[in-house]
Amino acid sequence: MRATYARQILALANASENHRLERAFAAVPRETFLGEDRWRIPTSLAGYTPLPENDPVLIYQDVVVGLATQRGVNNGSPALHARWLNAMAPHRGEVVAHLGAGAGYYTAILAELVGSTGRVIALEYDEDLCTRAVKNLAHRTNVQVVHADGAAYPVEPVDGIYVNFGVARPARSWIDRLKPGGRLVPPLGAPEKQEFLPGRVAAQAIGLLVTRVDNGFGAASLGPASFIFAEGALGATTEEVNALRVSLQNANDGKIRSLLLDRRPTGGVWLAASNRALSSEAPVRVGGREEKALVTPGRWAYRSKPQTGPVVFCRACTGKNASGPLGFAARNGSPQAPHVIGRHPRTPVCKTTPGGKRRYAAGGPPLPRLRQG
Ligand SMILES: C[S@@+](CC[C@H](N)C(=O)[O-])C[C@H]1O[C@@H](n2cnc3c(N)ncnc32)[C@H](O)[C@@H]1O
Repeated sequence: MRATYARQILALANASENHRLERAFAAVPRETFLGEDRWRIPTSLAGYTPLPENDPVLIYQDVVVGLATQRGVNNGSPALHARWLNAMAPHRGEVVAHLGAGAGYYTAILAELVGSTGRVIALEYDEDLCTRAVKNLAHRTNVQVVHADGAAYPVEPVDGIYVNFGVARPARSWIDRLKPGGRLVPPLGAPEKQEFLPGRVAAQAIGLLVTRVDNGFGAASLGPASFIFAEGALGATTEEVNALRVSLQNANDGKIRSLLLDRRPTGGVWLAASNRALSSEAPVRVGGREEKALVTPGRWAYRSKPQTGPVVFCRACTGKNASGPLGFAARNGSPQAPHVIGRHPRTPVCKTTPGGKRRYAAGGPPLPRLRQG
C-alpha cells in the first residue's frame, strides 16, 4: 500500500523520476505519526472531520491530517511536501535542519533521504508535539529532535533548511548558515488571523527555494501554499509584511530568480523591503566567460557565454554531467537530447526545443491553494 501511495504522491508532485524520494515515502509508516485519537481531516464544508476509523488505508493518499486541531496544526499534504522536497533535493550524507517538525513524519522522510551518513536536526516549538516527535523518531540514529524556537536554529552550517511554518521574512541566520550549494525552503506569507483558530495562518503563501551559489543566492517560487504562521521570535516589520502582501496579490512569483541581500536590484523586482529583495535578476554571474545558473534545485547548467532573457530549463536537464560546452545529461547520467523550455536565444542546443512552452523551473504547474501544512 505504501509503495502505491508513494508512486501516486510523487506523480501528484510532478516528481515521478525522483526514485529516492519515492522510496523515502514508501519507507515511512505515516500512521505511526498521527497519534492514537481518532484521526481527523480538515474539510472545507465541516472543518475537522473524524475518519470512520483509524485505518491506514484512509491516510495513504494526499490528505492533510490534524495533529493539534485546536491550533490548526496538521500533518501536511504529502504531495506538497513531495514537491518541495524534490525541489530542495536533500542528498545522502547531508546535514539538514527541519524547522516545525510537528510529530516528525516529514523529519523521518528527510532522515531517509540523507541516510545513515547524514543528519537531521528537527525543531519543534510546541512541547506536546515535540514529545511526540522524540518518541516517534527515537529509533532513528541520524535524527536529533530539539524543543526550541526555529528562529535560533540551526547553530551550525547546514546543507538544507526545511521550514514548515509560514514566515514573512526568512531569518537572516538561516540564510547565513547555508553551506555553499545549501538550500533553504520556507513558506513565505503574511500572517492572518483566522476564525476559530488561536494562532495565525499564512493562507496566501508561496514556497520559496533559496540556494547559496558562488557569490549570491538563487531563488525560485515553488508555487502557492497555506501554512500556519510561525510562533515565537521570528519577526518582520510592518513595512515588510505590507510589501509582501502586495507582491503576493500581484502573483508573478514565477519570475523570482534571486535573493539579493544588502544591495539594490538592477533588474526586475518581485519584492523589495528593507535590505533584501527577491528579484528576477539571474542568480549569479561568474566572470565574463562562463555562467553558472540554477537549473532546478541542486543542479546547475554551465553556459559558455552570458545569455539574454529568462531561461527556464526542463526538469530532466542537469549540468552536473555536462558532456560538452553546452551539453546536458539526464539525471541518471545517461546522455539525452537536451531540451530547454523557454527563451534561450543564443544557444545551439535550443534548436531541439519543442514549442517554447513556459514551464516552472522547480517542476510543474502550481498546485491549487489548499490548507496544506
Ligand atoms: C504546519 S505544522 C507542520 C508539522 C509537520 N511538518 C507535519 O507536516 O507533520 C507547523 C509546525 O511548526 C511549529 N512551529 C511554529 N512556529 C515554530 C517556530 N518558531 N519554531 C519551531 N517550530 C514552530 C508548529 O508548532 C507546528 O508543529
